[in-house]
Amino acid sequence: MQNIALITGVTGQDGSYLSEFLLDKGYEVHGIIRRSSVDFRERIAHLEGTPNFHLHYADMSDSMSLVKLVGKVQPTEIYNLAAQSHVQVSFDAPEFTADVDAVGVLRILEAVRTNHLENTCRIYQASTSELYGKVEEVPQNENTPFHPYSPYAVAKLYGFWIVKEYREAYNMYCCSGILFNHESERRGETFVTRKITLAAARIAQGKQECLYLGNLDSLRDWGYAKDYVECMWLILQQEKPEDFVIATGVQHSVREFTELAFRHAGIELKFEGKDLEEKGICVSVTNPENEHLVGKTLVAVSEDFYRPTDVVNLWGDPTKAKAKLGWNPQSTSFEQLVQLMVEHDMAKVAADSVASKVRTNLAEYLEKGLVK
Ligand code: NAP
Ligand code: GDD
Repeated sequence: MQNIALITGVTGQDGSYLSEFLLDKGYEVHGIIRRSSVDFRERIAHLEGTPNFHLHYADMSDSMSLVKLVGKVQPTEIYNLAAQSHVQVSFDAPEFTADVDAVGVLRILEAVRTNHLENTCRIYQASTSELYGKVEEVPQNENTPFHPYSPYAVAKLYGFWIVKEYREAYNMYCCSGILFNHESERRGETFVTRKITLAAARIAQGKQECLYLGNLDSLRDWGYAKDYVECMWLILQQEKPEDFVIATGVQHSVREFTELAFRHAGIELKFEGKDLEEKGICVSVTNPENEHLVGKTLVAVSEDFYRPTDVVNLWGDPTKAKAKLGWNPQSTSFEQLVQLMVEHDMAKVAADSVASKVRTNLAEYLEKGLVK
């Protein structure tokens, strides 16, 4: 029988890697997209036109669209990745976040039941380490109590419990992966890691003067997104549906991430001062053309990036995933992750600047009538 996957959130970081992973495994992959004024789906553009890859319009806030789509696709596996996934934004748009991240999960479960697929379709729910929030123990495992600490986390907590409820009430194969932060060169540009790697690349190439961040002391367990999508699939291949913590088991601060990212961009930083007065000052550079940066403040703290309540101590214990899924949490180390993101962004900034030079030259030539 052909494996048919339906992915919500297919245009996101994880959706794009998961699509590639499942297509490689021979799945027929269907993804949900929503109408946007800019129809540029950067992360999956390379997959469009692939014979087994299909996109459909639907929305997590529109039950009827989900019911109809699940009925049409008849998936054997659903990966529910769609979410308003930015924690800080959830303080500005809490109701939308709850609708998509909490009730959206219920809508998917009900769409499966409405189409009488509860015995044939397995469901993966993209749960999160944010559930541990104001943490009650370190490191966190499957038995650590939850203490959600943002509108996003509260919405995701509903998602976690409704999945557990449907598993027990209706005997459905549905489970949650409690994933700790995972990053990549496809990470959204306002999440802290990508914001840092892009800024390091821009500063190293003279395109930005200073990077403004919030809480530098915040601790995260950062892994590589490409490694984590494999776990989503493994979780759905187990005999019994169970929830899993997926993490590297290694913790670093935002400050450490920043130092390492700038080092890979050829800039050595030294942090001085405390809290809002803390600054990252350039102490040396590898590229002689950047000598003028030495002594300058390249990283500063801004209150704008502080959250009303912040989660500051995430550190996952992947013992269960290692033992039951046979998964290697260290296949990409923190150092490799930072390096691959910075290398990608150094190349991207260089390419953007060539493209922009070509555009400027072309505009000038057109103006002078040198090209028609
Ligand atoms: P992402 O890059 O922000 O992608 C989110 C996806 O959800 C996008 O495809 C987005 O579509 C879609 N979406 C948002 N609202 C929607 C709606 N109303 N209807 C349909 N689709 C909608 O997130 P990600 O990093 O890939 O994360 C994937 C999932 O894992 C999310 O549920 C996130 O909360 C969870 N998670 C992520 C991490 C992490 O570190 N990355 C850790 C734990 C859990 P558009 O492209 O149209 O906006
Ligand atoms: N975004 C951002 N921007 N965060 C900053 C900044 C900044 O300028 N400065 C410091 N931080 C701190 C945040 O306060 C937070 O403590 C930490 O860096 C990580 O922030 P994000 O990268 O925005 O990620 P997140 O941990 O809040 O949420 C991500 O991971 C969750 C899993 O734990 C998202 O992907 C969520 O969807 C996911 O559930």
